[in-house]
Amino acid sequence: MAKYDNNFTDQLRERLSIVDIVSRRVPLVKKGDNYWGCCPFHNEKTPSFSVREDKGFYHCFGCGKHGDIISFTMEMEHVDFMAAIKELAEMAGIPLPEYKPKTHEQIEAEETYISITSDAAKVYAEKLYSPDGAHALSYIRGRGFTDEMIKKYGIGYAPKNNIIANKFVNTKQDKLIATGLVRRGEYGMYDFFRDKLMFPIFNAHGQIVAFSGRSLDGSEPKYINTTDTELFHKRQTLFGFNFARESIHRANRAIIVEGQIDAIQMQCNGFGETVAPLGTALTEDHIAILCKANRNITFCFDGDTAGQKAAARACGIILPFLRDTSDVRFAFVTGGKDPDEILRKSGKAEMDKIINSAMPLVDFLWKITNQNYITNTPSGKAQAEKFLKSQLEKITDKLLRAEYEHEYDSRKFNEWHKWKKKSETPNIEIPDIEFTTKNTLLFIVNTYPELAERYGDFISTFNLDFNQKANNVNLNFESAEKYLISLKLQKYIENLNAEKKQLIVDSLKHNNSDTIKEVDKKIKEAQEKLELLLDTNDK
Ligand code: UTP
Ligand code: MN
Repeated sequence: MAKYDNNFTDQLRERLSIVDIVSRRVPLVKKGDNYWGCCPFHNEKTPSFSVREDKGFYHCFGCGKHGDIISFTMEMEHVDFMAAIKELAEMAGIPLPEYKPKTHEQIEAEETYISITSDAAKVYAEKLYSPDGAHALSYIRGRGFTDEMIKKYGIGYAPKNNIIANKFVNTKQDKLIATGLVRRGEYGMYDFFRDKLMFPIFNAHGQIVAFSGRSLDGSEPKYINTTDTELFHKRQTLFGFNFARESIHRANRAIIVEGQIDAIQMQCNGFGETVAPLGTALTEDHIAILCKANRNITFCFDGDTAGQKAAARACGIILPFLRDTSDVRFAFVTGGKDPDEILRKSGKAEMDKIINSAMPLVDFLWKITNQNYITNTPSGKAQAEKFLKSQLEKITDKLLRAEYEHEYDSRKFNEWHKWKKKSETPNIEIPDIEFTTKNTLLFIVNTYPELAERYGDFISTFNLDFNQKANNVNLNFESAEKYLISLKLQKYIENLNAEKKQLIVDSLKHNNSDTIKEVDKKIKEAQEKLELLLDTNDK
């Protein structure tokens, strides 16, 4: 049997969640740190099959079966190692590499690479404190960097000449070129980074694999990064992650900011758990890496429109990684350009405020839905619904998805309602549903005795206080009746959703997929009726 090198199988394990893989076959419920279900490898009625998301393995306390995503796929689908790897790679969306074990030469090449990049970092670091680097040093000091910070992050200066090409003249040219630091030109070898403030980029193990260079003379682009190499993949690298690991564990969350200087300033000002992508928008790989460390993530974007866009994108990317224990939030910098500026101008307290007022994902997704679609017309509502649905479909935890759907069902009803005045700016505060509903019912009972009679049984379930006087509501007889019918439908849907939730829990004990399907059908029908009712009211 051919064996894939560990890098690739590790990559698969990093990219795919064991909980996601298992849930496709076995319904799981979270209890404590573990997920539990009925073991697919032996017959049982009470769940003794446990899945550890953080460790990436499953273990059955009944039959002793134990393994990871690869063995699970092999056993469940009765396929061999290669076929399992192939399927998982497809699922992860990463191309299957040609089978290549790491050769002695490869290992040696990697060692040479790391030794060149770390030696280069030393050269740059020295240059920063030399006369050539005076302007770079004064620039970085001007941005609030102390000597201690410069040392910790290995900041340096790449002079105008070809310092690396010259220093490493005895190193094999191909090895040098492989690091991206030097290129071959018509007139010989030349340095890629020249007259730049240099930020080493560390991999997760703390080895320097690349650099990011900031221009010092105002020329564009502002930052250039090492282009991808064997050991540096921009889309899979988070700046500051090697330094942040411990803090992410301690703070029990990670913060993602947009820029690398932001990440450094955050880390040095009490937010050690901060990382940043590098010259790319956030990718699934970035999130996968972070989620392996911790699923509580606070995004902190710049307050400009680019930041808003990036946030919406991040929201779409993180949904498949959501668990019922994840706490995902979105913060936006206000009162300054970016976290670096806030920290320098107003200090940590101001940054605390921004981070602490971050919006939970459930509210943020609702907010962007309402921002992007006009939800007081039938077609706008339909578009918004489709968008929401497409987003929620990404949530793999079924119960969690059901909870989100339920939550949005009630928001749709309460906030997209024709009779409610639509606020100009999207409001994320949930209005006092109980109060408005009761008030409207009281109004109807007092104004239209005929309706009170006809819908008495339903109305009486609300425990109205008939001594209270209702605030005036602008509803004619016909609209009042429609209101009652739609409220009734809404309550009916709520009950069905509760029933469905219980059924999903029960599905661990016995197969009830037919009953779940029936309930789903009822929910769908009721929702269609409700929509029809609300739509006719728009006309
Ligand atoms: P910003 O334009 O917000 O820059 O880009 P910044 O981080 O505030 O930079 P300073 O404070 O002026 O030094 C955010 C991030 O996008 C990447 C960098 O990683 C930067 O930190 N970027 C930006 C590039 O890779 N190239 C560029 O030309 C600009
Ligand atoms: Mn900045």
